[in-house]
Amino acid sequence: MKPFYKETKFEKKIFHSAFERRLPLLLKGPTGCGKSRFIEAMAVELGSELIKVSCNEDTTASDLIGRFLLKGNETIWQDGPVTRAVKQGTLLYLDEIAEAREDVIVVLHSLTDHRREIYIDRLNEVIAAPASFMLLASFNPGYQSRLKELKPSTRQRFVTLEFNYPNEDIEAEIIFRETNILPKTASKLAVLAKKIRSLDELTLRETVSTRLLVNVAHLILSGINERQACEVAMVNSLTDDIPVAKGLNDLCALYF
Ligand SMILES: Nc1ncnc2c1ncn2[C@@H]1O[C@H](COP(=O)(O)OP(=O)(O)OP(=O)(O)O)[C@@H](O)[C@H]1O
Ligand SMILES: [Mg+2]
Repeated sequence: MKPFYKETKFEKKIFHSAFERRLPLLLKGPTGCGKSRFIEAMAVELGSELIKVSCNEDTTASDLIGRFLLKGNETIWQDGPVTRAVKQGTLLYLDEIAEAREDVIVVLHSLTDHRREIYIDRLNEVIAAPASFMLLASFNPGYQSRLKELKPSTRQRFVTLEFNYPNEDIEAEIIFRETNILPKTASKLAVLAKKIRSLDELTLRETVSTRLLVNVAHLILSGINERQACEVAMVNSLTDDIPVAKGLNDLCALYF
């Protein structure tokens, strides 16, 4: 079944053009704004399998490419997810690519330019990606610390789509479609989110995401009182600062 994805700009068209022209695509945007959902929906639209890899600082090149494993008294080669995706010609989604170490990302460079191939040094083998292969990656500029910036030589290989939280009408529709909550309640949640996002002075590490709003709606639907749902599924997930949390709860009470 095709996952529900509400287009917010022109991202589908860009995705399809990048796929046709065999260009890798980078999705940049804050947490919970629909990046992963978009990729899932696009994979189904293309009829392609999707191989996902969550990157972190411990991710090694062999985690991605493959390694020799000991089986009985022999060693056998096992492809990593990148090699599998290249061989099978699927979509490959590297989630939070900036979390991986630079030397790991550089291994992927030959896949992300005109060469579209991967070199497996342990096997001394080069594998070319078929037309159906596409590399996708995401990163959240908000998390970016000194160390976690992508190198320009990596950035400039990708077509980059910027994601953000949608306007309140689209966001209300997403909340409604995801949960079936009353449209009026979905709208109130979207307007409340817009308000919270405008309060720069709160200095939240990340502001309220569409994901949080969907969670609040789920709790309300299960019978939790609206204010309490906002508190546990939104406010408490946004901050540990007691005065800030109190301010946010008071704000929620103006809407619910
Ligand atoms: N445009 C959209 N269409 C449909 N659902 C959406 C959309 N944007 C956000 N959502 C909802 O928000 C939830 C979170 O979206 P998603 O998992 O794609 O976020 P993300 O951007 O990948 O976040 P992260 O960076 O934390 O991985 C989805 O499960 C879905 O309920
Ligand atoms: Mg995601």
